[in-house]
Amino acid sequence: MKQFTDHPIGCRTTVEQMWGKRRDMTVRDRSPFNAEPPASVLAGAEITALDAFYSRNHGPFPDIARDRWRLDVDGLIDTPLTLTYDQLITGFTPVSVVATLACAGNRRAELLNVRPIPGKDPWAHGAISTAEWRGARLADVLHAAGVHQDDGLHVAFSAPDVAPEAVPVQYGSSIPLSKAMSREVLLAWEMNSEPLPRVHGGPVRVLVPGYIGARSVKWVNAITVQPGPSENYFQASDYRILPPEADPDTAVPGDGISLSSLPLNCDILVPGDDELVPAGPLRISGWALAGDGRGIGRVDVSLDGGHTWRQANLQPVTSQWAWRLWSLTVDARPGRINVTARAWDETGVTQPESPAHLWNPRGYGNNAWAHVKAFAR
Ligand code: MTE
Repeated sequence: MKQFTDHPIGCRTTVEQMWGKRRDMTVRDRSPFNAEPPASVLAGAEITALDAFYSRNHGPFPDIARDRWRLDVDGLIDTPLTLTYDQLITGFTPVSVVATLACAGNRRAELLNVRPIPGKDPWAHGAISTAEWRGARLADVLHAAGVHQDDGLHVAFSAPDVAPEAVPVQYGSSIPLSKAMSREVLLAWEMNSEPLPRVHGGPVRVLVPGYIGARSVKWVNAITVQPGPSENYFQASDYRILPPEADPDTAVPGDGISLSSLPLNCDILVPGDDELVPAGPLRISGWALAGDGRGIGRVDVSLDGGHTWRQANLQPVTSQWAWRLWSLTVDARPGRINVTARAWDETGVTQPESPAHLWNPRGYGNNAWAHVKAFAR
């Protein structure tokens, strides 16, 4: 059922329209707003339209006018800086990066079929999207602040939005300095040639291609170079893989494995779950992503649960940091069709077979073989 809210001009509008999203988004939470597009909407498009791009938020969005936005850069640097929006966009060389943003909770729904994960959204196929981002290299800003490239340092990001889910805490995160100095990491102010929408962190967000989406901090207002990872809740306690027997309610900061690079993964976008398709030629399509800049070597598709496989056709690489789209046309005989897909990266690594072996109490990092069941007639 759609949820309606009062619009400032008096008409009634759905929450997804209010944030510039398609009407057919699956809204996982209304406030804070969390929504994913139908899988079929992501299919076949290298770049995801802004109105279809998933949105993942831990608290209500801050409303920061460009002329009031400030970025403090401090910590283990020679020259602490405070930058305005104009100083950021005119003082540093703008660069564009096509990059996929993926939430660590994408495909959690399949982990929920293994064991319940209380209090966590059942993200299906859509907590992943790709955009062309434009901004300044974080490395250039850190150089301007006189950073020392010492091994082992971390770069922490802070934002003003407050998440009510833990003890109320402002959002924050960190990445190793070595990643922060990479060419692909941006302070982004544009998305698909539009000013960065507020729902996606406008006026300025961090973009960390190849890492889980949680590290791409929206509405960033402070950057600190420090000896260790951020102690923020979302770095020290959340976005970690706990052992299956752990109780997330009694886990302490530092427990579990902190997520950073995305794992090798793929998914099937068409046909959709339980879709009715005409018998005959059926075009199966989806995405594959190798994580942290590695390439996809191959995508295999099976119609018999993994006993036999055919190789999918890969679309050309458009960016080292973006998903690789794939497709395969098969002959769909009348009846139930079980489609399975798995990707291999260029080093010969492939995905684990079952989500049962990956289940973890917060439901992160599902990169098991992808499955979709459809029906042909
Ligand atoms: N940054 C802030 N300030 N607050 C947040 O709640 N969510 C993170 C990340 N950055 C978040 C944030 C998570 S978990 C993800 S997956 C991505 O933003 C989602 O970005 P999007 O909403 O633009 O798709």
